[in-house]
Amino acid sequence: MRIVQMSDIHTGSGLFRSELLDAAVRETNALAPDLVAVAGDLTSEGYRWEFEEAKGYLDRLECPNVVIVPGNHDAQSVGYRHFEDLFGPRERAMTLTVPEGEAKVVALDSTKPDLAEGEVGREHYAWIDEEFRGWERGPKILILHHHILAVPSTGRDTNNLRDAGDVMAILRDLRVDLVLSGHRHVPYVWSISGVRIVHLGTVSSLRVRGTMPPSYNVIELDAERVQITLREPGKGEEPLSTFSRQAMTTSEFYPALDRFVRYDQLPF
Ligand SMILES: [Fe+2]
Ligand SMILES: [Fe+2]
Repeated sequence: MRIVQMSDIHTGSGLFRSELLDAAVRETNALAPDLVAVAGDLTSEGYRWEFEEAKGYLDRLECPNVVIVPGNHDAQSVGYRHFEDLFGPRERAMTLTVPEGEAKVVALDSTKPDLAEGEVGREHYAWIDEEFRGWERGPKILILHHHILAVPSTGRDTNNLRDAGDVMAILRDLRVDLVLSGHRHVPYVWSISGVRIVHLGTVSSLRVRGTMPPSYNVIELDAERVQITLREPGKGEEPLSTFSRQAMTTSEFYPALDRFVRYDQLPF
């Protein structure tokens, strides 16, 4: 399957560049992906007109499966109300028919209103478990705004996912294939315990760090491998990372999950 992953659009700021988002949308349509994952921060301050401006671009995506979650900027100024009005539920699970079978996609709101940091929260663990456990029909993909693991070249980090340890243990136990995140504006991929955690640059703003330009990711996943390409809107592309489809590990981890994280098995 082919996934286009973009985030951190950040309309409403003088650093927003419409020509970059315009190019990313056109290029995405040409790629005809199975899934477009938009990992939050559509806006700069969560104002309605900022969401409306972002929607004007995202509505031009021709992919039938566009999944959008809010970022911390979208949860400012009670902006999550506008998000819900314009884009629907802030979180959901869905099944996609893809060449590899059926992909399970869980889109989760990791924001807390007016806080830069995020959290999945214990109330969500059983839901994630319910959706992913035992899913053998195809890839398992989680989309959320905040980063589970630290991203290099982003300075000092004070707002990663607050319950990152618990969430990582759960994702390992559930054998989740891909975690798609934004927030740090630097593209970087970790592969840990079989979980591939794919971070994004900002697609259409100049809120960049260091030498990383505005960018988005294209992920190709098939029976043999996962290939991730970094694309600069309107410019070109370069490889970001390649993995075998099955995690390359000789290690085994024996303690049961509930030695580390406990939660009810029924979703909230
Ligand atoms: Fe952002
Ligand atoms: Fe963010």
